[in-house]
Amino acid sequence: MHKTSGNAPVDLDPGYVLVDLSTRVGTLELVNPIIAASGTIGYGDELSSYGDLASLGAVVTKSLAHFPWDGNPGLRLAPLATGMLNSVGLQGPGIASWKSKYLPKLQSTGAKIVVSIWGRTLEDFQVAVHELSDAFESLSALEVNLSCPNHLDKKTMFAQSPSDTQNIIESVSRHCKVPVWAKLSPAVANIVEICQGAVEGGAHAVTLVNTMPGMKIDMGTQRAVLGAKSGGISGPALHNIAVRCIYECRSNFPDLPIVGVGGVMTGQDAIELMLAGANAVQVGTASFLSPRSTWKIVSEIAKYCNENNISRVTDLVSQAHTSE
Ligand SMILES: Cc1cc2nc3c(=O)[nH]c(=O)nc-3n(C[C@H](O)[C@H](O)[C@H](O)COP(=O)(O)O)c2cc1C
Repeated sequence: MHKTSGNAPVDLDPGYVLVDLSTRVGTLELVNPIIAASGTIGYGDELSSYGDLASLGAVVTKSLAHFPWDGNPGLRLAPLATGMLNSVGLQGPGIASWKSKYLPKLQSTGAKIVVSIWGRTLEDFQVAVHELSDAFESLSALEVNLSCPNHLDKKTMFAQSPSDTQNIIESVSRHCKVPVWAKLSPAVANIVEICQGAVEGGAHAVTLVNTMPGMKIDMGTQRAVLGAKSGGISGPALHNIAVRCIYECRSNFPDLPIVGVGGVMTGQDAIELMLAGANAVQVGTASFLSPRSTWKIVSEIAKYCNENNISRVTDLVSQAHTSE
């Protein structure tokens, strides 16, 4: 067992290293780099019975719109050989209802709360920010889900171009009192150009990446498994796509705060995203396999640092970019 700063020492190995797991995403300080990813822990309530949410870096809510939304027809989730396929379709109660029903309980856990928003139009995003204005004091950041379907029937994505990305982030940032994170899709021709749009729009950080579009057909029925036919691939299949997106964006934006996400199932997966350039790392699908995964991944990071004589986890950030 290892000692991590902020935690009680437990059964220390001789020669242990005191590992400082704290990191920052821009101005936001986190006790450790592990953040629960949007859409995979509900509004925090689903995960809080498995561990102390305040001992994670932060938690991101499921994406919320300013209106209630039913989401997609079932079946919404399907296991894949290399991860998971989902098409939940952004089901949610709407921001007003979330603020009264879910936010107080999440606040009482002491967790750092990142709220995720989505919209079908630019105006939807603006209204969402306006509706959050009396909640900013309880929030650590606002993550803008730029990878959601725009015309849900046409299955196109809203921010496929640098200029769309810039416009949305600009209008969200104008009235937002907390740091704005732009969450990007990996399903674009050039992630660096989209990232540039987010930076020019005033994003304080980018979250890389959302799921990759995919589809599965049932061999028995010979029809699509998901009610919405296609969905987003997450889990191990996404991991090395995320590594590449983070690496390329870090190469082009040396000082941009980056939150990595994609197929992090172990501490070493998280560290790989940090080596590529992530300042913090979100965990999604792993929480479906075991709701205690986020905490386990934190201890695995501490173990790796300990075994490799790394006293500060931030020393790992962007190491893959340095020459031998
Ligand atoms: C069931 C499910 C629901 C999701 N819902 C959202 C969402 O509401 N907003 C969002 O930005 N990302 C959503 N995501 C994407 C995750 O936050 C994450 O970017 C993605 O799953 C990759 O990480 P992972 O491989 O660790 O799961 C969802 C993912 C899953 C599996």
